[in-house]
Amino acid sequence: MLSLPLTLVSLLLPLPYFLAPFSLTLPGALLVRAGTANKDDACSVQNSRLQVGTYQFWSDCNSVTFCNATTNKCQLRGCRSDDFPFGYKPTDSHLPPKCQRGEFCPDEEDACQPLLPPDSACQLNRDDECEAPPNFKELADESGRGLNFNGSVCIKNVCMWANKTAGDDCVSENTPYTVYGRDGEFIDIVSRGNCRLGLYCDTQSLKCLAEKAIGAACTADKECSTWNCMTSGVCGISASTPRHLGIWVYVVVALGIFGGMFGTLIGLFIMHRRQRDVEREKRVQYWREQHAFHQNLTQMREAARASILALPQNGSSSARSTLYGRDGALSDESQAPILQHAATKASGLRHYMSDDNSSEYDDGLGMQNRKVGNRF
Ligand SMILES: *[C@@H]1O[C@H](CO)[C@@H](O)[C@H](O)[C@H]1NC(C)=O
Ligand SMILES: *[C@@H]1O[C@H](CO)[C@@H](O)[C@H](O)[C@H]1NC(C)=O
Ligand SMILES: *[C@@H]1O[C@H](CO)[C@@H](O)[C@H](O)[C@H]1NC(C)=O
Repeated sequence: MLSLPLTLVSLLLPLPYFLAPFSLTLPGALLVRAGTANKDDACSVQNSRLQVGTYQFWSDCNSVTFCNATTNKCQLRGCRSDDFPFGYKPTDSHLPPKCQRGEFCPDEEDACQPLLPPDSACQLNRDDECEAPPNFKELADESGRGLNFNGSVCIKNVCMWANKTAGDDCVSENTPYTVYGRDGEFIDIVSRGNCRLGLYCDTQSLKCLAEKAIGAACTADKECSTWNCMTSGVCGISASTPRHLGIWVYVVVALGIFGGMFGTLIGLFIMHRRQRDVEREKRVQYWREQHAFHQNLTQMREAARASILALPQNGSSSARSTLYGRDGALSDESQAPILQHAATKASGLRHYMSDDNSSEYDDGLGMQNRKVGNRF
């Protein structure tokens, strides 16, 4: 099962060489678009065929060789039709050349051959094997729909020019391809003819008819100038038509982008301003507390001094030792308990710090007190 979609992919796309390693890790015969016989191995041209459903060319030989009909041996390929053919690296020395203008590389990829005149045999869907008409500029399809190549087509394996005008008899060929979609396999019938541009070869009457405009009844894509016959049975707009959105969509998207950007910025600004205010309030409170403590201390000191002075002179030394250090400065030990007790409730900042029972807290507090004390 796995091999089939991959085979199709390799038919539709010039399979890049980077997929080549997969052919080594997976069963080669299933994946590559060729047989397994290597160079100089025996092969039979009788086995060469187009694969069912995909119409991919298959031979006994592997992806870098072809089966030579005279020797019945696989031989390195003599030309390529893809820029990046399957089974080669771009640096490969045996990468065969692409054919020049006026030549083509057949499905076997054995050797370049000159273009074929009208009525000669060509390979399925290989419009590029046929010689261009003198008025190729007028007939050539440049829409990318693959109606012809340079004005020539290969219909029912015969080269012809796509020069039939409206009402002329034409040749039509229907090829049912197996398509592998998301919902499984289905058949896609591709119908081609030798009518001029703007006409299609009607399968019933085998006459060239004008392509239909959007909204006209249709039974196949080829009948519509847009190449899109919808399931409702009318010609729809081309599947490759770009979708244009209204101006309002751009306006809404732009508003969404800028609204989101500025909304986020303003939201963050307001949030940070609020946080800053809270922090500032805490600091102001802290400053007020410290100021109050300082005043308390000054008052205490004044009171103590007053009481000491009031005492008789001989008892002074013992009273001193309780409140003052040896040099007469107020000791940290006497200060800290008062601060700690008073501060616990007041400011958010202090409250936050008092939750921390580490020794660093005590040190820090002592330092701060000293600093605050110095400032006043
Ligand atoms: C096939 O082999 C014969 C004999 O070796 C050789 O002359 C001929 O050129 C080969 N064909 C191609 C297409 O290379
Ligand atoms: C189309 O055919 C003309 C005449 O043969 C030729 O000069 C021209 O190169 C061809 N164009 C392409 C794209 O092959
Ligand atoms: C149309 O093409 C065919 C070959 O397919 C050619 O024989 C014939 O002369 C062409 N007719 C015109 C009018 O060019």
